[in-house]
Amino acid sequence: MSGRKRILTVFGTRPEAIKLFPLVHALEADERFDSRVCVSAQHRAMLDQVLAIAGITPDHDLDLMQPDQTLDALTAGLLTGLGQVMDEEKPDWVVVQGDTATAMTAAIAAYYRKIPVAHVEAGLRSGNIHHPWPEEVNRKVIGTIARLHCAPTETAAEALRRENVAPGTIHVTGNTVIDALHWITARIAERPELAAGLAELEGRFAGKRIVGITSHRRENFGPGMEAIAEAIRRLATRGDVAMIFPVHLNPNVRSVMTERLGGLDNVALIEPLDYPHFARLLGICALMLTDSGGVQEEAPALGKPVLVMREATERPEGVAAGTAKLVGTDADLIVAETERLLDDEAAYAAMARAHNPFGDGRSAGRIAELLGQ
Ligand code: UD1
Ligand code: UDP
Repeated sequence: MSGRKRILTVFGTRPEAIKLFPLVHALEADERFDSRVCVSAQHRAMLDQVLAIAGITPDHDLDLMQPDQTLDALTAGLLTGLGQVMDEEKPDWVVVQGDTATAMTAAIAAYYRKIPVAHVEAGLRSGNIHHPWPEEVNRKVIGTIARLHCAPTETAAEALRRENVAPGTIHVTGNTVIDALHWITARIAERPELAAGLAELEGRFAGKRIVGITSHRRENFGPGMEAIAEAIRRLATRGDVAMIFPVHLNPNVRSVMTERLGGLDNVALIEPLDYPHFARLLGICALMLTDSGGVQEEAPALGKPVLVMREATERPEGVAAGTAKLVGTDADLIVAETERLLDDEAAYAAMARAHNPFGDGRSAGRIAELLGQ
């Protein structure tokens, strides 16, 4: 395939897959590129859910996930495994997304081979290397290596300029999560059965306000997770509210949540939802309680208030716009802010405005253009 640029897109977790499938689709549809995909499978089931809905069959699958994996064993396996794939593929570019262990090690393996790296969702910074941990350092490492920085917003681009990244390598492309959200919304419109699996819960909770919940952050393991569970227990004493909580497969999350929240009538602890069903949950909920990164971008785009259960956020745009609020992992504050949104119509209306600083749904095309230059 001489003349075509060989692009090796590397990812391993659910959010990377969601945010990279629009780019993989764009590269596959473009004659200029020979698109190759390598998954580390740092996640297994949650990654496979996304691959299935996006119709992507990886060219390489390292199948690395281990139960309750440690960061060092994961990182070691990633570095050698991804290096071997790069030696075989000899790509012109390696594309990584965000700040996971897979993204960081792929950038290092490419750097060791002097292969240029394109970083999708570049420039997010909380300014605190322990929140989110270890992602703040992962993304700084990638930022040091990357030759092309695709910043989702001007704020992210500015953070890179402050770190003396060469201005000509920084491009504001928007966040591909909005492309993904548009794509999945269109698929559901064509085939509503793709998101019909929540019908039983929707029937059971008819007439109640739905609070959608996700939680998985490593820095929240232990006391933070316990406080989140305590807040949910207290909120569950209200008869007018129901909570739908697709529980992340990480055992450090599941053990706490099943032990503390199992058996409550109006708390549905369910398996991770595939992307169409999660989009449906975002659509039917009154608000989201989350420590997720991606959900902080999706919920404002759909006009749903987000209470962010983190001490710091690298996505200040939602907070600045008033659609997101940091509540940390203080049970009293989580309960108070959730009840304020549930009981104070004006407070709810002030946050429930569709707001979309993260992109216009055409980010993947812009990134493909930059790779094609
Ligand atoms: C990882 C990323 C984090 C990202 C998150 C998205 C790192 C260091 N962390 O965190 O940045 O926000 O993914 O969800 O890269 N598991 C399963 N099946 C799955 C997925 C996970 O069983 O499909 C369990 C396994 O026991 C696994 C554990 O979850 O060992 C942790 O997975 P890991 O990728 O190390 O960390 P996450 O907390 O998911
Ligand atoms: N998501 C999903 N099913 C779920 C929970 C989340 O498809 O049950 C999607 C969500 O729409 C978002 C992404 O997964 O796009 C966020 O992943 P996660 O919270 O695991 O990671 P983070 O964004 O914090 O890195």
